Amino acid sequence: MKIVGISSSPRGKNSNTLKLLDAALEGAEEAGAEVESIDVAKMKIKFCIACDKCHKTGECSIKDDFSALLTKLLEADGVIWSSPNYITNVTAQLKTVFDRCPLVIHEQLFDGKYSMSLTTAGGNEIDFILDIMNNFMIQCGGKAIGGVGCSMYLGPEAVETAIEKSREMGKDLVEAIKEKRQYPEQEARQKAWKEGFKYSILANKEHWTHNCDYWMEKGWIKE
Ligand SMILES: Cc1cc2nc3c(=O)[nH]c(=O)nc-3n(C[C@H](O)[C@H](O)[C@H](O)COP(=O)(O)O)c2cc1C
Repeated sequence: MKIVGISSSPRGKNSNTLKLLDAALEGAEEAGAEVESIDVAKMKIKFCIACDKCHKTGECSIKDDFSALLTKLLEADGVIWSSPNYITNVTAQLKTVFDRCPLVIHEQLFDGKYSMSLTTAGGNEIDFILDIMNNFMIQCGGKAIGGVGCSMYLGPEAVETAIEKSREMGKDLVEAIKEKRQYPEQEARQKAWKEGFKYSILANKEHWTHNCDYWMEKGWIKE
């Protein structure tokens, strides 16, 4: 079982959020997973240019580090997303990765994968940021088991508690993957999305040929 941890703070080794990610990956490793930490802030990943090529051909037109990252994500059984709160959102570095994933969303390529999310913030907005990462995973067809965050103003004890919670959730991520844990509310959202998005696929079938073939192959549309 492979679990990939994504860090996205520009502060590298000094990142508070990285402390949570390191602990979660240690927990996952203790529970038996093979783990890898990837810092997307150190990668060269350009903005999506909305060329639609991925929907047409299954390939991105931009040649940069994103394709190697996507390969790692597609090979993983679990993903740990992490980002500090930047202006009540994830960092631009992580958002850029999300924006490069329309093919993943259109074809639900994270189906069968599990995730958890981690954040730190100067203030109190923790759940909002965790929800951004968890919702992204659900949008991509995967499952989100939960998240851990820490408001830094609470001081070193709160950080220690969050580190320990992250370690435990990293272990639980491995358990969720092993037992193929079900999340009926997330599955219901994905089913509702698919029922609606079917009409976008059909309306764009001349342009989104790769998407259309994929949906046919999966039996999500007839013709
Ligand atoms: C550009 C920038 C924007 C930030 N925006 C917020 C914010 O909107 N809300 C908040 O609570 N903290 C905000 N912070 C504080 C960081 O979330 C906090 O310091 C975090 O722990 C940094 O994590 P890191 O060490 O992993 O980079 C911001 C920090 C920076 C540099």
